Amino acid sequence: MFELLTRVPDDPILGISAAFKRDTTPLKVDLGVGVYKDDHGNTPVPAAVKRAEAEIIAVQASKAYLSPVGNPGFNAQVLELVMGADHAGRKGDAAAVQAPGGSGALRLGAELVRVSSPGSTVHVSDPTWANHIPLLGSAGFKIERYPYYSAAKHSVEFDRMSAHLEALPSGAVVVLHACCHNPTGQDLTLTQWAAIADIVARRGLLPFVDLAYQGLGDDLERDAASIRMLARQVPEMLVAVSCSKNFGLYRERTGLLIALTSSAERAAIAAGQLGRLARTIYSMPPDHGAAIVDRVLSQPELRRSWTEELAAMAVRINGLRGLLADGLTSRMRGSDFSWITRQRGMFSRLDLTPSMVETLREQHHVYVAPDGRINIAGVSQANVDHVATAIAAVMASG
Ligand code: LMR
Repeated sequence: MFELLTRVPDDPILGISAAFKRDTTPLKVDLGVGVYKDDHGNTPVPAAVKRAEAEIIAVQASKAYLSPVGNPGFNAQVLELVMGADHAGRKGDAAAVQAPGGSGALRLGAELVRVSSPGSTVHVSDPTWANHIPLLGSAGFKIERYPYYSAAKHSVEFDRMSAHLEALPSGAVVVLHACCHNPTGQDLTLTQWAAIADIVARRGLLPFVDLAYQGLGDDLERDAASIRMLARQVPEMLVAVSCSKNFGLYRERTGLLIALTSSAERAAIAAGQLGRLARTIYSMPPDHGAAIVDRVLSQPELRRSWTEELAAMAVRINGLRGLLADGLTSRMRGSDFSWITRQRGMFSRLDLTPSMVETLREQHHVYVAPDGRINIAGVSQANVDHVATAIAAVMASG
């Protein structure tokens, strides 16, 4: 049977990490996979996460099963972190179910759509996270793209985007990035979000919002403002939440799926369906990361420490944006890189062709995603000169 299997190409993002590990040059720089890094290139575990972890291990008396919907404390805490203290005025209307990471939450949400509306088409931004299409496509959906980003102008093509959404049939699923758009870093303004919420509500579209970077763009509140605005206007919505980046819990696979429905009764039905779906796929989500997040968010001292550390991470990333833009501008006089400083989150996408990406890697040992996406958090005081010189060199020769 397995003789029929064919070899798969490298994952566009994870393949870079593998290639980077194989490179033995000390000056190599990894701007590939979206993980936060400090100025030494390390991906730290936040202090509050470390402390919560130690406390949990000290008191945990059993590792008996929880349930397919996971840890209720985690579900309630993260729901509130995302929706705000007043749940955007929709308290009780949401089913919140723990999932194995943001990707697990996306898949769970897709399964819920399939149960309720099997023929739906899913619309993703052009461009979008490299795994959105394989992940949602393998859940059985037809995937289409809506216009989002102008690479020439380094800005959102808002008129084209809204005209496109306006023309979609009722029931279409629209994947939106709540903040820190991946791969462009270019977010909608709040005014634009209000217009999108209006279209979605009027046209009867289902927003499926991906929230993987809350707190890493501007701050915890502003990064969730889009979701809260949508929740005030649309009857139904899905939100896939990742705790990988903002809690530094990447490998612990910690996420939440929120299904906002039109009543508490429907929310209970949706939660039951989600529990059943989880049971049929992986039975139950892993506990450790969710237990940590629950503890960090429910203990005031840990929560304060985490919030401060997260805020410092966002400040650092936004500072690196300025550092890189200055480095590029000083090497490429006449070119404007100020757009890098206006974007948010870990990513921006440089105007690099695939062959420039290859030259960057082969000749300069700077690893970026195949579409020119760079992880800004991988830039540091120590490597910015090398990175800017390398990028300027490949752009000049391209
Ligand atoms: C990324 O976009 O680099 C991250 O979300 C990690 C991943 O799983 O692709």
